[in-house]
Amino acid sequence: MSFIVAIDGPSGAGKGTITSILAKKFNLLYLDTGATYRCITLKLLNENIDFNNIEKIKQVLEDTKIEINDKKFFLDGKDVTKEIRTKRVNENVSTVSHIPEVRVSLVNLQRKMAQGKDSILEGRDIGTNVFPNANVKIYLDASIDERVKRRVKQNKEQNIDISEEDVRKNIEERDYNDLHSTVAPLKKAEDAIYVDSSKTNIKQTVKIISKIIKKEKHKYDMIEDSYNMWKETPLKIIARNVLKFIFVILYKIVFIPKNINKKNLYSNKDEGVIVCANHISYMDATGIVMQNKRKVRFVAKSELFTNPVLHHWAHIFDIIPVKRGEGDLKSVKLCFKTLKNKEALGIFPEGTIDGLKKHTDLKNGAAYMAYKAKVKVIPVGIKGNFKPFRRVIFNYGEPIDVSKFKTDDPNWIENATDYIMDQIIKLSK
Ligand code: DC
Repeated sequence: MSFIVAIDGPSGAGKGTITSILAKKFNLLYLDTGATYRCITLKLLNENIDFNNIEKIKQVLEDTKIEINDKKFFLDGKDVTKEIRTKRVNENVSTVSHIPEVRVSLVNLQRKMAQGKDSILEGRDIGTNVFPNANVKIYLDASIDERVKRRVKQNKEQNIDISEEDVRKNIEERDYNDLHSTVAPLKKAEDAIYVDSSKTNIKQTVKIISKIIKKEKHKYDMIEDSYNMWKETPLKIIARNVLKFIFVILYKIVFIPKNINKKNLYSNKDEGVIVCANHISYMDATGIVMQNKRKVRFVAKSELFTNPVLHHWAHIFDIIPVKRGEGDLKSVKLCFKTLKNKEALGIFPEGTIDGLKKHTDLKNGAAYMAYKAKVKVIPVGIKGNFKPFRRVIFNYGEPIDVSKFKTDDPNWIENATDYIMDQIIKLSK
């Protein structure tokens, strides 16, 4: 996924000005989503369509082409940048934007416009609905007096003739509609950062938000970089072996590990293999990686890679990042590549530390990839609690062939995963 910044907030909070400066500064595609609602409103008004005639509106949505080029908006090929800011549109856009069919269609369009591009979107529901996984979410607010003042000034600059009284009435009305709507009401996303611009000028507000974007962009770049595996150079191999040497000594002193039937990890030495264990602590994967000559590449949540030390560590040990909660194709590709290279891939079917205790659903990724790549699964039961100077046991089980679970039963993959987990539990007793 690309880098997405969501700027939400009420009318006149300064979203447009601020977003446009930030877009330039961070080289992001700028998308004013409000303008898409304005375009449709203009079209419905031009064609005299009753806002209650949903069938007709649906048809208009299908037949309408909205495009953006820089800060210009085109409706069916015609530049309507100015026209969508007129009184006529101002007075009707709120009503149109609350028609569910309009929202579904335009949210889809907005997602498509930003697809695959690092973008900054301003609107009302970007962080809550359009891009709920946005990298940065800002809720930009300002007092009503300040917002009226700004809109009046903006109108003057654009030669739009609306009285201050009308502007205030219009903003108040829109605030009410936006906040009380049953369809996508304006509200701050739980994880959005609240920025009040009432008492800060444009430069100061930009500075505040820039700082947030910079930090998140750095994190994002670190995560993206973690998918670019470092080449297996002599220096990398030396670094890995030196770290392993030091770590094994420390590990043996602190956790007094005992390995049982480690040979099972080597029984399929000339093929890829998936190592599946119970997940108790970060030290469990470390124990498997450090105590084996065979390289085991674990899959780990991508957030770990934003820490500079862990970032280097992950590169040296070829850890595979995975973004949770989204189909991470890049990660899956790296897993299959690992298996194709006849390496060992480490996956915790519990998905998270103590997943079974937390009653999270088991993850089927290991069983699925083992089936697709035609490799065996090595279950590992880990017993112990990783408290210093208490023994930890790593018990390696017999390789499991998941293909024997393949039937016409649509739940066969879940059955295979359950079987793997059962073996792990038995081995950890
Ligand atoms: O930001 P603006 O004033 O140009 O927005 C025009 C209208 O569109 C406004 O009534 C709110 C609505 N809107 C929305 O419902 N969702 C968005 N993401 C953006 C704008």
